[in-house]
Amino acid sequence: MARIASSADVADSADIAQSAAVWHLAQVREGAVIGEHCVIGRGAYIGVGVRVGKNCKIQNHALLYEPAQLGDGVFIGPGVVLTNDHNPRAVTPEGELKTASDWLPVGVRIDEGAAVGARAVCVAPVHIGAWALVAAGAVVTSDVPPFALVAGTPARRIGWVGKAGIRLVEESQRPGFFRCPQTQTLYRLREPDALEEYRGERDDDASLNAEECAGQMSSEMKNAEERR
Ligand SMILES: CC(C)(COP(=O)(O)OP(=O)(O)OC[C@H]1O[C@@H](n2cnc3c(N)ncnc32)[C@H](O)[C@@H]1OP(=O)(O)O)[C@@H](O)C(=O)NCCC(=O)NCCS
Repeated sequence: MARIASSADVADSADIAQSAAVWHLAQVREGAVIGEHCVIGRGAYIGVGVRVGKNCKIQNHALLYEPAQLGDGVFIGPGVVLTNDHNPRAVTPEGELKTASDWLPVGVRIDEGAAVGARAVCVAPVHIGAWALVAAGAVVTSDVPPFALVAGTPARRIGWVGKAGIRLVEESQRPGFFRCPQTQTLYRLREPDALEEYRGERDDDASLNAEECAGQMSSEMKNAEERR
């Protein structure tokens, strides 16, 4: 049986996995699905039909408006907002209060392992790729590639991160290759804006656009130089 705080407001039709926990004053709406081992923090809001994969952490007061969809192992920081109305209005042009049929909800999709830092806003419709990291306070207005580190308003890519969430360091002797200083895992640019885990020779069959990636590398190195 899921651990649900007595002050939490969980709809009867919400599907909460047995090993999940829902903390005080959180609200989980009708038809929402919360996967195994998830933790829903104090005061969080999970909208109607929102799907949260297994092993996700939703921190205090995060607001996940429908139709948001989260993969497995996603981290949502405190105070994050996933919006669902791109052009919000309380009333119609005639001044009548808008109802559910007067607007079309659009969703935020977040893939496996990605993390959204404290108080970031993801403006739907937007897709955050697997293992990407959104910096605290960012406003995400366009899709984020897998493993990208994005920050600012609007959020721009400022680097790459690996599965450990640590910023990757470009290999000085190998164009387009990046290493995690913590796990030593190697990643490589498949295209200028697409990083993937490098699995050794098996990946060498796949074509690597050396020219484009070299261009990307030099800008990464320039950015790193500027940061020093
Ligand atoms: C984005 C983040 C991962 C960067 O960490 P980092 O790689 O160690 O980067 P640094 O701290 O060395 O900062 C590098 C640059 O990015 C800037 N930066 C760092 N965090 C930033 C943010 N949230 N928004 C905008 N810029 C940021 C720094 O000011 C610095 O700029 P500079 O080079 O002009 O001085 C980290 O700052 C962050 O926001 N983490 C999320 C924390 C969070 O919300 N946790 C949730 C649980 S409480």
